[in-house]
Amino acid sequence: MKAVVVTEQAAGTAGMTLQERPKPQPAINDVIVEVRGAGFVPTELDWPSTWIDRRGVERAPSIPGHEMAGVVTELGYGTTGLSIGQRVVGLTDWHRDGGLAERIAVEARNLTPLPGDVDFAVAASLPISGLTAWQGLFDHGRLQPGQVVLAHGAAGAVGTMVTQLAREFGGYVIGTGRAADRPKALDFGAHEFIDLDNEPLEDVGGVDLVFDVIGGEIQKRSAALVRAGGTLVSVVGPVEARPSEGRAVDFVVESDRTQLHQIVQRVREERLRTNIGTVAALDDAITALNPTERTTGKPIIEVRR
Ligand SMILES: NC(=O)c1ccc[n+]([C@@H]2O[C@H](COP(=O)([O-])OP(=O)(O)OC[C@H]3O[C@@H](n4cnc5c(N)ncnc54)[C@H](OP(=O)(O)O)[C@@H]3O)[C@@H](O)[C@H]2O)c1
Repeated sequence: MKAVVVTEQAAGTAGMTLQERPKPQPAINDVIVEVRGAGFVPTELDWPSTWIDRRGVERAPSIPGHEMAGVVTELGYGTTGLSIGQRVVGLTDWHRDGGLAERIAVEARNLTPLPGDVDFAVAASLPISGLTAWQGLFDHGRLQPGQVVLAHGAAGAVGTMVTQLAREFGGYVIGTGRAADRPKALDFGAHEFIDLDNEPLEDVGGVDLVFDVIGGEIQKRSAALVRAGGTLVSVVGPVEARPSEGRAVDFVVESDRTQLHQIVQRVREERLRTNIGTVAALDDAITALNPTERTTGKPIIEVRR
């Protein structure tokens, strides 16, 4: 089968090649999914799990892309709950080959049935951004209606989900990003926007929840804005600064069928919009995943049949 393959971490996305790879074999409780759409997170090639397996053994050449949608074509030994021909969407194991390929072996527990009225490309854009926002706001950030949320990178893939879900839940959302991101962040529902390159972050005053997708200095300055009892949630590694009278949490998103179902339902009901950037066919994936100018939104690779 055709797949996007990486073999050397130092090469980054420039080292991606489109190759013929062996067809994946389903393990116990797996399914094989014929991929129709897969998302890519630009930082994926920096994650250790792209390069080593759970024993710490090198696993390259590896296939990136850990959110995907497609059709089940085969069931592994003992697999229940899914059937051949079923449309599915899910977040796949970081340490196994991903979805930038014609086929993928996935644990059935990591997949949610996908209703027929949701496009595969739309579905593929939801698992990582949607679940990260959901878990960061509700599981880790313990958001309450009426609270003020500082949503960094509010025009990005995660940030647009954070903004919409926080707002739906009754939060007051202050988005941040580059100057050019203002219209998009406001369009996705931010009440206010701070251009981090030109406006003082400190102008936002106190906030109850910081959702950080940037880290570094921005995170340190954000921690100081958290009110007593508030939380700083980071998805960019261990927290570097803690609020003086609040909590700090960093986490890696986990697969959750129930939460993903809720996210898909919101998209079907047009209560949640996804933020898709470049869309390209698998044959054009290498060019699409190596943009020569700034892009925004989740890059999606479509595998058509
Ligand atoms: N821990 C987890 O489970 C988890 C899950 C999902 C994502 N992540 C991480 O979260 C981060 C965001 O992911 P994403 O998919 O939302 O990426 P994205 O779509 O690129 O969004 C990030 C946004 O933040 C902006 N930004 C970054 N640094 C900035 C700065 N210093 N000033 C102003 N704006 C800045 C980016 O603009 P520019 O492109 O111009 O920099 C972009 O608009 C990535 O590092 C990703 O690895 C972690």
